[in-house]
Amino acid sequence: MEIFAHRGASAHAPENTMAAFVEAYNQRADGIELDIHSAADGTFVVIHDDTVLRTTRVSGTVAQLTYEQLRHLDAGASFGPSFRGERIPTLAEVLDFVKSTAMKVNIEVKGASVSEERLLELIREYGMVDRTIVSSFSWNVLRKIQALGYGIEVAPLCSEIHVMTPDEAYARGFKAIHPHFRSLSPMYIRRALELGIALRPYTVNRAEDVSALYRLGTHAIITDDPQKARRVVEQMHSG
Ligand code: G3P
Ligand code: CA
Repeated sequence: MEIFAHRGASAHAPENTMAAFVEAYNQRADGIELDIHSAADGTFVVIHDDTVLRTTRVSGTVAQLTYEQLRHLDAGASFGPSFRGERIPTLAEVLDFVKSTAMKVNIEVKGASVSEERLLELIREYGMVDRTIVSSFSWNVLRKIQALGYGIEVAPLCSEIHVMTPDEAYARGFKAIHPHFRSLSPMYIRRALELGIALRPYTVNRAEDVSALYRLGTHAIITDDPQKARRVVEQMHSG
């Protein structure tokens, strides 16, 4: 079972910063998950919310700020003083780092103004087509990416309420689903396995949930704490 670090190792370092992605690597994550928006000048930036308030304590809307403005904000201090000075990274910076490792990257498209064409060009420029999964709650974004035909894996994100069944995913040509972990049942997981659809549920932080999903044969999990998940998986292997 692969372990993806949600917004990086966000239990240990400020979410969606280089510190969190490097920490995920140090904690032996198989991949990282991150969120992207388009800044006012079109730069893809790695941040979860539409605004910078929660993570930088400054008010402002990501889509209305240029990267030049965003790059001066402190995205680390709100997590802890030792992370003061961490920046909002660009997607290009993160791809450059991930490329130097064996990790995969799950790019979640958040902002409505992200250009699918430019995103795919960037992933291709960094030679990361085979190690990238693009996910989104906007299934339309994924359809556009499929239609562009680069062969990049796409995965619909499902909330606890808005669930896509493995059969629906199969019919739409999706080879993976990223569901909320509480929406999963053994029957759902079994059907996904039968159809060859990878499941990467989020956000799995409790040891008992990690081990239950491992036993049921889930392909991967997305967690804030890759170190803890790794320990659970290793214990299950040796037990
Ligand atoms: O990719 C799974 C998860 O990240 C989706 O929820 O709000 O953490 O982006 P959120
Ligand atoms: Ca996300």
